[in-house]
Amino acid sequence: MTTTPTPGPGATSLAARARDHLWMPFTRHSVYEEGGEVPVIVRGEGAYVWDEAGRRYLDGLSGLYAVQLGHGRTEIAEAMARQAAELAFFPIWSYAHPRAIELAERLADLAPGDLNHVFFTSGGGEAVESAWKLAKQYYKIVGQPNKHKVISRSIAYHGTTQGALSITGIPGAKEPFEPLVPSTIKVPNTNAYRAPETLQDDEKAFGRWAADRIAEAIEFEGPGTVAAVFLEPVQNAGGCFPPPPGYLERVREICDHYDVLMVADETITAFGRIGDTFAMGRFGVTPDIITCAKGMTSGYSPMGAMIASERLFEPFRHGSEMFLHGFTWCGHPVGAAAALANLDIFEREGIHAHVRANEEPFRRTLERLLDLPIVGDVRGAGYFYALELVQDKATRETLSAEQSERVLRNYLSTALFDNGLYCRADDRGEPIVQICPPLIIGQTEFDEIEQILRAVLTEAWARL
Ligand SMILES: Cc1ncc(COP(=O)(O)O)c(C=O)c1O
Repeated sequence: MTTTPTPGPGATSLAARARDHLWMPFTRHSVYEEGGEVPVIVRGEGAYVWDEAGRRYLDGLSGLYAVQLGHGRTEIAEAMARQAAELAFFPIWSYAHPRAIELAERLADLAPGDLNHVFFTSGGGEAVESAWKLAKQYYKIVGQPNKHKVISRSIAYHGTTQGALSITGIPGAKEPFEPLVPSTIKVPNTNAYRAPETLQDDEKAFGRWAADRIAEAIEFEGPGTVAAVFLEPVQNAGGCFPPPPGYLERVREICDHYDVLMVADETITAFGRIGDTFAMGRFGVTPDIITCAKGMTSGYSPMGAMIASERLFEPFRHGSEMFLHGFTWCGHPVGAAAALANLDIFEREGIHAHVRANEEPFRRTLERLLDLPIVGDVRGAGYFYALELVQDKATRETLSAEQSERVLRNYLSTALFDNGLYCRADDRGEPIVQICPPLIIGQTEFDEIEQILRAVLTEAWARL
């Protein structure tokens, strides 16, 4: 190992060591090379985390949309420790172990419709990757080998592996890695705030219009070539787009009509985020596949899954067919133990009921911010919200690229953190602030979030 000389005080601090050796995902390292200090979080309890200097922050993003039950749940940690002592690892490639079996059974039970077959992964991107591969292999087996294309939505994020990144609809995230996997087609998302002008006052008509763009894309590509539509029940990137009334139902109808699989990417929306184990359960529409991760263990262990219907598993019941796909850590015993303990707490503490009872007060609290000139829209569902920032509320004019860089990137994220709120300012679509706190919080924390946002956004407006 060669070490980079790091002169001056603090050279051996955790922040300096991070700067010198820890290559952080989606991170502008120049910020730290030029004097910024890497925030080092050392501990968590409930909805709060602490840095190494002892400062406390409200975790307004549940880590990264994952820590549903909050930090410091020793019950989950103990279940993991017990499992590691009993059987730390054994693969589920033609073998099984009790925790993977129990978790698969429990997820199948919680999933809507006949989504009874659980294929474990290490995270959300792998689950998306698995779903696309399953769709392709399934159609090959049933004699429709040309059905391989995927339709997904503008600005949607589905992961970073090359297949999942192809499905992702964020041009800037893809450009460095192109050419990617071909055969992915993008359609409009359900951002009602940015709906075509004639549809802005009619949610239903907008939903119908957006869903029908999927039918149009299938027709254009040729129904015999399209395998699946991937969508999040509530889309994260771009800023929390809930489905307009009738939208998911119409997409289901279109998928049935053209024999195209409907894949609900619930990497964020599952496990209580929208007040049910799966958002699709709450919205009352059954997809062919659900992909999920993050909240499955409340972030205590990396774990994901693709949950598929009976129809999709059927061809693999017979003869020599097998899904030629997998990862070493599929169904990891320690992760599965964490997930089971997590689900136990969900049940015991009535987390879904808590989210349902508090989602309206949470929304109302955030909507108070609409009195600020910079807040154009507040939208979301459950415990999952975004504020869209504008420079002119009347015209909905968004921030310029220069304002976004100066105010959103260089001021807002740091200022929110410095004021005690960890959340995310994002400009992958329009500029937004994302709020996705642990599901255990109530009015006191809603108010705290609102007050910090109010102070920082007021200052951001002055800086525009
Ligand atoms: C909807 C969605 N799909 C997929 C992913 C990728 O998940 P992972 O980072 O676990 O691979 C994410 C991550 O945030 C996501 O939000």
